[in-house]
Amino acid sequence: MNKKLWSGRFQKAADAAMEDFQSSIFVDCRMAREDILGSIAHAHMLGRQGIISPTDADQIEEGLRSILTDYENGTLVLNKSAEDIHMNVEQILTERIGKAGKRLHTGRSRNDQVALDLRLYMMSAIGLTIGNIHNLQAALLKRVHEHIHTVMPGFTHMQKAQPITVAHYLMAYFEMFRRDVERLTDCKKRTDSMPLGAGALAGSTYPLDRSLVCRQLGFSSLARNSIDAVSDRDFCIEFASCASILMMHLSRFCEELIIFSSDEFRYIEMDDAYSTGSSIMPQKKNPDTAELVRGKTGRVYGDLFNLLTMMKGLPLAYNKDMQEDKEAVFDALDTVNDCLTIFTSMFSTLRFLTDRMFESAGCGFTNATDVADYLVRKGVPFRTAHETVGKLVLACLEEGKAIADLSLFELKAVSPFFEEDVFDCISLIACVEGRSLSGGPAPVAVLSHIEESEQWLKEQTSGDVSQ
Ligand code: ARG
Repeated sequence: MNKKLWSGRFQKAADAAMEDFQSSIFVDCRMAREDILGSIAHAHMLGRQGIISPTDADQIEEGLRSILTDYENGTLVLNKSAEDIHMNVEQILTERIGKAGKRLHTGRSRNDQVALDLRLYMMSAIGLTIGNIHNLQAALLKRVHEHIHTVMPGFTHMQKAQPITVAHYLMAYFEMFRRDVERLTDCKKRTDSMPLGAGALAGSTYPLDRSLVCRQLGFSSLARNSIDAVSDRDFCIEFASCASILMMHLSRFCEELIIFSSDEFRYIEMDDAYSTGSSIMPQKKNPDTAELVRGKTGRVYGDLFNLLTMMKGLPLAYNKDMQEDKEAVFDALDTVNDCLTIFTSMFSTLRFLTDRMFESAGCGFTNATDVADYLVRKGVPFRTAHETVGKLVLACLEEGKAIADLSLFELKAVSPFFEEDVFDCISLIACVEGRSLSGGPAPVAVLSHIEESEQWLKEQTSGDVSQ
């Protein structure tokens, strides 16, 4: 058994089961790179400030770089009984360079160290997540152009409501993902705060140069209170919250694609590559990818609740409970990114069954509002027109007809305001084209939304937002 780095005040070794129980190396080994880079910056600063000798600082840096190389080559052997990644790196360093390694932890605590590592890790993880949302948004934009005129029914209460287009429908999801990007970008701003120098909780008596470390690690600001710096996990909770909202969006999208791929709808067909068959029913083609993304949404909500509940009763400052943060936040991170990636591929390969959507939009009275609006344009008050068209719908239902199937004679029997031009005004194309307010389904409106979105995405991906 290895001697613990904190063994000084202990007379007995830790119980083996307790050692396993409290070890976090299996999860925090993911932060090896961040831990090593944080230590390099810290050691460099200690040397510059004369807190350790420049020779020791150089040796530490060299030793840490060799550990980083081994880690990146996959040859670094970690020791489970060394608790966590911080203790592991320090222990390996001392094995490699001897005495100088024992000076690395001067003016630092694992409490500010773990906060630093996790912030560094999450800053790049947020960038990665934003990048994956951008990829999905690019996939959406790629498909909308061909569907600016593709009519489909829009639903409210899952009942056919008014005609829209596939492009208009897809751009609704584009907007949801745009808010996800904005939320994550905002979350990244608060993650970007450098905690080192907070020590265990009460800062340090050494003349540490916090700004130097801050600059070297690429943070843009210093944590302003040492107690808060080691107590705060808001950035993890915010990430899990952003991830939960994003998963909710993906889940709604999946839900619709699942419904739309059913035989009752047949609006879309999933590619075989993203579907599975049944072990008993030979005819089946199931939308498993979409179902699994929908299912995994619950898991990410679970991670958010895990973090909120873990933090809610904790006194300031660090408590070991907080070691649980990483499993939850990494699970949210992995799940959301796996889902984004697979969803993007699934979406890019599905087929829209446009004839079937057009046919479906033609029944179910999706043009009823437009018939009422036609009467309004002829001078009828809207409430009266609504009532008239309601009666018309009832009559059509009895005869199994659509409003457009009725003759002008039949229409006039209900309201004398109907004239020959009514048929042009209530066709599906006219219904869609008439809704040309900004944000509406008319091709001209959707096209300008698409152009604005393409510009936004271009600016997003040309800057360093996703880095
Ligand atoms: N493994 C710990 C964590 O992940 C590191 C910080 C431990 N600090 C301490 N004083 N026990 O939270």
